[in-house]
Amino acid sequence: MTRVRKAVLPVAGLGTRILPAAKTTPKNLLNVFDRPILAHVVAEGRAAGIEHFIFVVGRGQGAIEDYFDRAYELETELAAKGRTEVLEAVRADLLQPGQMSFVRQMSPLGLGHAVWCARDLIGDEPFAVMLPDMLMDARPPALAQAIAAHDAVGGNIVVVEPAPPGETHKYGIVSLGETATGFDGRLAVMTGMVEKPPPGTEPSNLFISGRYILQPQIFGALATHEKGAGGEIQLTDAMLHLLETQRFHALQYEGVTYDCGDPVGLLRANVAYALKHPALGAEARQAVARFFEA
Ligand code: UTP
Repeated sequence: MTRVRKAVLPVAGLGTRILPAAKTTPKNLLNVFDRPILAHVVAEGRAAGIEHFIFVVGRGQGAIEDYFDRAYELETELAAKGRTEVLEAVRADLLQPGQMSFVRQMSPLGLGHAVWCARDLIGDEPFAVMLPDMLMDARPPALAQAIAAHDAVGGNIVVVEPAPPGETHKYGIVSLGETATGFDGRLAVMTGMVEKPPPGTEPSNLFISGRYILQPQIFGALATHEKGAGGEIQLTDAMLHLLETQRFHALQYEGVTYDCGDPVGLLRANVAYALKHPALGAEARQAVARFFEA
């Protein structure tokens, strides 16, 4: 079985749900407590064994490249001032030389198109897709859970989770077949998926969240540039094509997801990550509690 070494992180969307906050700052560099959303997601990828991060970017997103690179002036100043802890925190997020690539999407034609832009950098091996506005707080990390499923059953893996009651019509919902052994009933053959099913017609309550392991043949399905829902080139449409010839499994991961592409989701993530912060959690708890004092 080929190991999953590379991850595609599409960050070129317009982020309309979180404008104007994301007008001049790339959405994925908005903050979740002590670091950008994207730094949390890259940390998840590294913990899952990803060796190469491929960012699909748009115009004006150069700050993403800079975030994961050395900042000599800043680091020199911090070292000169003896700010060792801060310096270590800054350096902890750096990627290693050769560990990151950037590819331009030019126009935000849809998630499927963004993933297709990474085709030459992926080549002929299975790879991960991490939607960086979906922050998935899990141990082991969500992507590590997906890779473990891939190690067990191969093929393509889609991470899913239960939609809030009555909200399946807002999501891409999967239909499931036989359950695989060894994952407490959380890994099952995926037989289909449907975008935003009308209430009452949903095949399950599980929606596709933000992590995938895909086989490189997906690029063939994406190359047709067929437009789907919302006039965008959708990854789910290409997955449906691939489902005709390849196996897909859906993994119900164990963890909590925050949709940071939405102002309230971003707020929830900020509160959750503040409360669990090892050094600042207690102070954060007091600060939050004060809002509810009479
Ligand atoms: P979303 O639909 O959640 O992001 O796409 P968006 O389009 O930026 O946000 P809204 O809906 O307008 O608020 C999921 C991921 O795919 C990326 C986005 O950046 C996001 O991380 N994406 C989407 C691209 O890279 N290119 C696209 O053309 C579309």
